[in-house]
Amino acid sequence: MINSVMNKLFTKKLTIYQLGNPQLREKAEPITNVQDPKIQKLIDEMLFTLRESRGVGLAAPQIGRSLQLIIIASHPNNRYPHAPLMEPTAMINPRIVSHTEETEKGWEGCLSVPMIRGLVPRYRQITVEYCDRQGNQQVKELDGFVARIFQHEYDHLEGKVFLDRVESNLDLVSESEYYRNNQTNPKDI
Ligand code: NI
Repeated sequence: MINSVMNKLFTKKLTIYQLGNPQLREKAEPITNVQDPKIQKLIDEMLFTLRESRGVGLAAPQIGRSLQLIIIASHPNNRYPHAPLMEPTAMINPRIVSHTEETEKGWEGCLSVPMIRGLVPRYRQITVEYCDRQGNQQVKELDGFVARIFQHEYDHLEGKVFLDRVESNLDLVSESEYYRNNQTNPKDI
């Protein structure tokens, strides 16, 4: 109890590495001991950082840690007004087990790529496997926007960013243009 209160008091917002930082292009290493207090602390700090940044997902390489750890935290907010609500979830050593052939394009942004939105093709539905923060192996089926977030964050573990996935430069827009054009279209995320 005291530990968790102390943790909350001392949790800090981490610096999010920006495009051009070579760390964003590295392949992340698997985590061997989920119970390691350093890993648990890192998860708390990433959850806090994500909340403060109003993002829906964050990968450890984005805060300069080359580890296979992502947070998925879909919720409606200013950045993504139509996102479904879910409990923020830490996924350790995640992988895609299978996916539908069908892809769909949707708008994405990234806390490491400010001021830009891109139209990115992703699998519509995926089955994923990961270890949760308690150390339990999980298998989940994800679809739509949550599946999109997973694929975006998983890419970070492979040293990729969403810009690598857009099919044409014409599918890249500034954030201000994005908001101007998409405010009233509920299909856009
Ligand atoms: Ni990102």
